[in-house]
Amino acid sequence: MSKLCLLKRMFLALVFVCPILAFSQNKSSINPDSYLLPSARPDRIILNLSENPLESIHVNWRTDTTHVVSHLEVAKATSGPEFRDNTEQIKAVTETLVSQQDEEPTIHANYHQVKLTGLEPGTSYVYRVGGGEFWSEWFQFTIPEDDQEVNFLYFGDVQNEVVAMFSRVFREAVINLPKMDFTVYAGDLVNHESADFEWGGWFEAGQWIHATIPSMMTPGNHEFSKNPATLTPHWNAQFNLPINGPEGLEETTYEVNFPELKIISLDGEQIDESPRYRKAQMDWLRTILTENPRKWTVITFHYPVYATAPDRYHDKMIDYIRPILQEFKVDLAIQGHDHAYARGRAFEENGKLDFGKGTVYVVSVAGPKMYEVKADAWMERKAYGTQTYQWIKVTKDVLSFKTYTALGELYDSFEIHKDSQGGNTVVNNIPDTPERLQRK
Ligand SMILES: [Fe+2]
Repeated sequence: MSKLCLLKRMFLALVFVCPILAFSQNKSSINPDSYLLPSARPDRIILNLSENPLESIHVNWRTDTTHVVSHLEVAKATSGPEFRDNTEQIKAVTETLVSQQDEEPTIHANYHQVKLTGLEPGTSYVYRVGGGEFWSEWFQFTIPEDDQEVNFLYFGDVQNEVVAMFSRVFREAVINLPKMDFTVYAGDLVNHESADFEWGGWFEAGQWIHATIPSMMTPGNHEFSKNPATLTPHWNAQFNLPINGPEGLEETTYEVNFPELKIISLDGEQIDESPRYRKAQMDWLRTILTENPRKWTVITFHYPVYATAPDRYHDKMIDYIRPILQEFKVDLAIQGHDHAYARGRAFEENGKLDFGKGTVYVVSVAGPKMYEVKADAWMERKAYGTQTYQWIKVTKDVLSFKTYTALGELYDSFEIHKDSQGGNTVVNNIPDTPERLQRK
């Protein structure tokens, strides 16, 4: 080969290969969310409510696939470091989830879960997850007392820009309120059901709080792919919710029982999409409410019975779910989907609505996506364009409900008083502030 020919070939190589190399290097470093990829260090650590929160709690976490085996260590908490002398180690149940984010390469990750049982009410525990050189920090949680009041947070859709825009709401709630027993998410936790970095963002927004305060979540339409409605495989891999509902709806339709509070999740998307799963949920709901010995019943599902705008009403929730809530006197329904705030009552009888009777319905939104709210007769308080968090306190005879804006301002407040016959009286304590109704 002549010198000229060699130089020409080198030149061509530089012209054609370098851009390819530069592109591939760019591609691997271009995604600012690549810090959400799995590693040997456990992440996405979360406590889930079990069906009996006074005896057990469920833990999930993620690693890369080099960790085929992962462990949880647990001990009763002590005021000093000596709890480390008395730990129990439990091997996790592990499954591999293959997922993707946009055009990025396929992501392989191992999801690990442990069900902690035999726990004692009123006792604090510490736990960590991982193994070898890659353990998490120790997290601490407390099992509620059996005769204690129950306090929990409720968030509407977080869904969009979760790290950027939901984190402050969550943190304000944790800073401003007493310690919560658990958190409820009313669906649409992410925007694209199987986008792995969106789920990473959801976990990132909660960080250590998810690992410290147990959660229960009900799925929204954005947790499903369409035709037919299929729950994202992320759900069962990364959560570890009760499986005491109808067959085929594990971890989406279930109940959690505190001594005087039953809290139920229904799978709203399958009520909407599947006659079979709709009927299964209606039959199951009737059964558990018929046999319900508890004083208070709260239910969560994504599609609201009464919407925040008349053109958003969900006929199936009205036709199939409302009659059951009315018949069994469910106290409170906490819902999502409408990207606005509204709270009120409407009890249907002979085709007429009684706005002073029955289940209290709430719709709220915790993320930044906002839809207009249109005044409707069922609403006692409403808001447009307002990210909120809700604190619900359940005591022996009073359920207290408070809604705060992201600024920590009380926006709505009411109590449900239960009499000795099981009848409810709603007491309004709405703050004397104007309703937020306009696009700014
Ligand atoms: Fe939705």
